[in-house]
Amino acid sequence: MILQEAQRTKQIVQNLLSFARQMPAQRRPVQLNAILRRTVQLRAYDFHSHDVDIVEHLDESLPEVVGDSHQLQQVFLNILNNAHDAVRETGRPARIEITSARNGTTVEVSFRDNGPGITNPDRIFDPFFTTKEVGKGTGLGLSICYGIVREHGGEIVCHNNLDSEGATFIVRLPAASEASFGAVAGDYPK
Ligand SMILES: Nc1ncnc2c1ncn2[C@@H]1O[C@H](COP(=O)(O)OP(=O)(O)O)[C@@H](O)[C@H]1O
Ligand SMILES: [Mg+2]
Repeated sequence: MILQEAQRTKQIVQNLLSFARQMPAQRRPVQLNAILRRTVQLRAYDFHSHDVDIVEHLDESLPEVVGDSHQLQQVFLNILNNAHDAVRETGRPARIEITSARNGTTVEVSFRDNGPGITNPDRIFDPFFTTKEVGKGTGLGLSICYGIVREHGGEIVCHNNLDSEGATFIVRLPAASEASFGAVAGDYPK
């Protein structure tokens, strides 16, 4: 019975993950700052009405990355929604800082919040892991982020802030170069 139910669970997760990636993934040069601004705009009303302060430090000379803008928006939206839930848990004035920067051949986007911090760092990317009450959390947001970022050749990591309360999530993606545009074009001849 345990085996059967475990297999059924695996099937559900696979279905959900393929649902989340229903559209064939695109590989085009995209500007992450533009995606970040769009994502913040989507949630601006909610943030404003809950007095959540959003601060953007976007590097205007950020190189493009090669990827799927809808999937990357999904990643940023999931992280931002979690940060929103987190900062509203504490009584403190809520604040989320979004930073984009180039680091060598990598583009790095970080989301720093002043919520309660992460309690289960080794489990939070697992499908269905949630600390939220039934009906509120699905535990799928970060596992979807993880899958998308890995498919883009990048990584997603998180840590609790050392100098103050809260957590930071960092997405790292390879910066596009002339060479990678060539390779991408070659990968999609059809
Ligand atoms: N910014 C954050 N601060 C603290 N904990 C977080 C943060 N983001 C995510 N988490 C933890 O990771 C868990 C999993 O997140 P996620 O996969 O998006 O699922 P859900 O949001 O449905 O719970 C959350 O339930 C929460 O415990
Ligand atoms: Mg979530």
